[in-house]
Amino acid sequence: MRKKVIAGNWKMNLDLKESVALISEIKNGLEKIDNIEVIVCPPFTSLETAKTLLVNSGIFLGAQNMYFEENGAFTGEISASMLKSVGCQYVIIGHSERRTIFKETDEVINKKLKKAIEHGLKPIFCVGESLDEREKNLTTKIVERQIQIGLKEIPQSDLKSIIIAYEPVWAIGTGRTATPDQAQEVHKFIRDLIKDLYDKATADKIIIQYGGSVKPENSGELLSRQDIDGALVGGACLKSASFLDIIKSA
Ligand code: 13P
Repeated sequence: MRKKVIAGNWKMNLDLKESVALISEIKNGLEKIDNIEVIVCPPFTSLETAKTLLVNSGIFLGAQNMYFEENGAFTGEISASMLKSVGCQYVIIGHSERRTIFKETDEVINKKLKKAIEHGLKPIFCVGESLDEREKNLTTKIVERQIQIGLKEIPQSDLKSIIIAYEPVWAIGTGRTATPDQAQEVHKFIRDLIKDLYDKATADKIIIQYGGSVKPENSGELLSRQDIDGALVGGACLKSASFLDIIKSA
């Protein structure tokens, strides 16, 4: 059976002091969790402190982005080895905000995924269609393209370190969640696609999270669906109470 993985993407929120407060609350409020993995992804500026606070907590640390080069003249960017050096185990790659606001292409995302894996970071690889694309019935076509190019030349042996997050763009930060049926349908499509691109064992094992306005009120039903293995939570992870309730519902 696949475990559930609940990750909090803090986005560009919370300074160092606020980060310390939120991590302490999550740590103190977390009850014994079986078969659930919890990941927090604070901003870069809070990562090192977060790592210290999370020692022996069972909670994993992730970053929200990285660049695909090793080092050099890339002002403002962060490398995979820098993330490793502050204790990150995960990194979110290809978030829709990176794709739309910062114009990241599928090809760039492919390079980032490869570099993350090379350095032993586990990517949370985000895919998802816009509202316009859904209304034109292009959802599966878009998701298929994002996954095919994103995973290009990544061997089957590396798939065990990748989590896929299906985040329909129209559900992110809008309060408009995909229904459990809508989400399950795309998750099943993604799992079948992984089976076609790799094999059944890989498809059966891969964790596919849902993201987009996940809240304690809808998480239980979403997470009960067969192919929904976790959640990538934005707004609701910024308050310990709602993040902990989502974890409890898994
Ligand atoms: P919201 O939960 O705020 O909709 O954000 C989802 C998201 O983008 C997580 O990566």
